[in-house]
Amino acid sequence: MSLQGKTAIVTGSGQGLGLAYAAELARQGANVVINDVHQDVADAAVATITGAGGSAVAVVAPVGSTETARQLVRTAVDTFGGLDILVTNAGVLRDKSILKMTDEDFDIVIDVHLRGTFTCVREAYAYFKEHAVGGRIITIGSPTGQYGNFGQTNYAAAKAGIVGMVRTWALEMKKAGVTANAIIPVAATAMTKTVPYFAAAVEADERGEAMPSFFRHDLGFGTADDVAGLVAYLASDEAATITGQAIGSGGDRLQIFSHPTAVITEYREGGWTYDALREQFPTIAEGNLATVGETLPPLPQDLKPTQNLKQTGGAK
Ligand SMILES: NC(=O)c1ccc[n+]([C@@H]2O[C@H](COP(=O)([O-])OP(=O)(O)OC[C@H]3O[C@@H](n4cnc5c(N)ncnc54)[C@H](O)[C@@H]3O)[C@@H](O)[C@H]2O)c1
Repeated sequence: MSLQGKTAIVTGSGQGLGLAYAAELARQGANVVINDVHQDVADAAVATITGAGGSAVAVVAPVGSTETARQLVRTAVDTFGGLDILVTNAGVLRDKSILKMTDEDFDIVIDVHLRGTFTCVREAYAYFKEHAVGGRIITIGSPTGQYGNFGQTNYAAAKAGIVGMVRTWALEMKKAGVTANAIIPVAATAMTKTVPYFAAAVEADERGEAMPSFFRHDLGFGTADDVAGLVAYLASDEAATITGQAIGSGGDRLQIFSHPTAVITEYREGGWTYDALREQFPTIAEGNLATVGETLPPLPQDLKPTQNLKQTGGAK
């Protein structure tokens, strides 16, 4: 097993994608620190992993604070003798369009996703650097962070911010042999289950049937387990040179995202005055302006949900 003897922390791993990542890391031989805010799901996750022959321990504490980040690293070191892999997966949603979004809605999403990623990574990296163990950091972005999504100002800020931090960490951590990447998952979990667009896929999954190929292939939407292999791969020695990347995974689909890059560059001696822009910008912009939002293909008739379908607002 490729992760034999290694130790991983997976935040928010009581259920959903986090549990799938933790279970796969354990399957590949890693000891796992489970983390969640709910004692029952954390205990059940530990039982699932140990029941399958793995090693796991739970830390029930909300990520966001430095205190929780320290507790996670301390638990890994005290229980398993070290730390090799950090997966910052914990997340919450507070979806509202901007005029309805309160300061609290904004702050909690930023706190759990962005600050929780920052504090856990800072703590884990300090350990990796001090002990010269290399180290793997796997953070979680989202299609919303890559493209934008209606009703998700807070979540878009957090998820785009995470990918921005990863690019910076790839530079800062290179010398220490630590990699930092973001995965962009799409899967049926508590977070996406209620989106009507995915209803036929979620229902098939709940009946224990394979999801229709339209979801798995065309939309890249599958089960949490479908994404777990990518996490284990990025955590492995084989992925030692992969860093600073945003990699999408869902259903049958794998995607490597580009970083934002200039699609056209024009120069004007003396700079771009208002008048110069009025004159030339329409020509320069033609065909070069970025689109926003993820364009999802129309659902085939037989996969349409019975309830009202909002065509916008795809994967989270
Ligand atoms: N499901 C998808 O399609 C999808 C798409 C893109 C990104 N993501 C991201 O993947 C991650 C996991 O999502 P999921 O779909 O499995 O969601 P989920 O709601 O099923 O699981 C999230 C887990 O995080 C825990 N959690 C919440 N706040 C926490 C905190 N402060 N500290 C520790 N744990 C906390 C929850 O209790 C829950 O167990 C999230 O970061 C989410 O934004 C999911």
